[in-house]
Amino acid sequence: MKFGEILRNKRAEGKEKHVPVIEIDKGSRKGVEIVRVIVGKEVPHPNTVEHHIAWIELYGVKENRQVIFLGKAAFAPTYTAPNIGFQVPTKEFKAFCALAYCNIHGVWENCEEL
Ligand SMILES: [Fe+2]
Repeated sequence: MKFGEILRNKRAEGKEKHVPVIEIDKGSRKGVEIVRVIVGKEVPHPNTVEHHIAWIELYGVKENRQVIFLGKAAFAPTYTAPNIGFQVPTKEFKAFCALAYCNIHGVWENCEEL
């Protein structure tokens, strides 16, 4: 098995939504750009001890395809929702990719090109 085979994406999505949505907010404060990653933006994912999004990771891809690990957020089920902003110099990247882990449904991926 290859690692890529365990990553799930939009094609595998059922009625519960797991794909991490990536949004870039360049306008909130001058000079501060936030890359926001949200699971369940349209349809909230369950957030119980039994079934929840445990963490989100964000990666940036440079023009030369170098991959930079930008950060990770872990969530407390029932208390914190999987919605996290990373302050990033977005001009240095050509794409952002995120992973999100559901304790029942595995690891989900998404990328957004700029
Ligand atoms: Fe799930």
